[in-house]
Amino acid sequence: MVRPYAVKGIKRKKKAERYDIDEGEIEEQQEEMTTKRARQEEEEEEEEEEEEEEEEEEEKEEEEEKKAEEAIVVLPGIPVAPSNKKTKAGVIFVLEKACLEVAKVGKTYHILNSDDHANFLRKNNRNPADYRPDIIHQALLAVLDSPLNKAGMIKAVYVKTGKGVLFEVKPYVRMPRTSKRFYGLMLQLLQKLSVTATGKREKLLRVIKNPVTQYLPPDSRKIGLSFSSNKLVQLRDYVAAAGDDQQLVFVVGAMAHGKIDQEYTDDFISVSNYPLSAACCIGRICNALEYKWKIL
Ligand SMILES: C[S@@+](CC[C@H](N)C(=O)[O-])C[C@H]1O[C@@H](n2cnc3c(N)ncnc32)[C@H](O)[C@@H]1O
Repeated sequence: MVRPYAVKGIKRKKKAERYDIDEGEIEEQQEEMTTKRARQEEEEEEEEEEEEEEEEEEEKEEEEEKKAEEAIVVLPGIPVAPSNKKTKAGVIFVLEKACLEVAKVGKTYHILNSDDHANFLRKNNRNPADYRPDIIHQALLAVLDSPLNKAGMIKAVYVKTGKGVLFEVKPYVRMPRTSKRFYGLMLQLLQKLSVTATGKREKLLRVIKNPVTQYLPPDSRKIGLSFSSNKLVQLRDYVAAAGDDQQLVFVVGAMAHGKIDQEYTDDFISVSNYPLSAACCIGRICNALEYKWKIL
């Protein structure tokens, strides 16, 4: 910072013109000037520190982004193109009402979750119990890690957040295993609208326009899952009865409470006498289809 010109001028003038000044006064003036200079230096230091802190924060964010990008890798053995050309056999997953909400907590943006942001959520009159991004994390791992996916039978995965943002996840993506990395990836996706693998152009995750129905094959069978449905089915029998000429779309909720959107589903089924987690339901669907298509 440059000291104002006027201040310099006054100092020189005082020294040159006043010979009658006594020693005490000179000391006082010198002390005053030293304090002023010290104060100025202090302010400059504070500014520098703040700038450094900001730079550090930015670097940290960039590093987190890089880590999130690195965390996402393409699974080796999964066919990128559909493996079964003769039939339409395959399955699509729609995971509804995923709790992925971005907010600025302190100086940085985060995916809100009940573990890390309970106080922030309470202060903002929100119920921490509703903020469960771990549900969609577990659900995606259940879909993407399944032998059904490794056999190339999962054709597409769509996620709709509780706030209505729709995004696509390529089935050959390997999701981060830890929640911290997963939240980092989701934050990047929701802020930048897409995520590409390092060194590649292809968008492995990307936000797309609603409604999800425009991406589903017109003749596909859309099956909604809810514990509250009166139609309790044995999934193995249910999928066995479906012909391979029709693609199946399973709609599963990825939220802590509430029901999925039933508007675009052709059927609404319950798969157990018990309320299950989304990941457990997905596991059941995958098992039933693996049995049907003889995937070991
Ligand atoms: C944690 S649950 C949500 C709880 C919500 N109260 C409900 O029962 O829909 C997540 C999702 O798992 C699915 N689900 C849970 N239990 C189920 C069951 N017995 N049959 C079918 N789907 C079930 C539903 O799609 C639900 O939206």
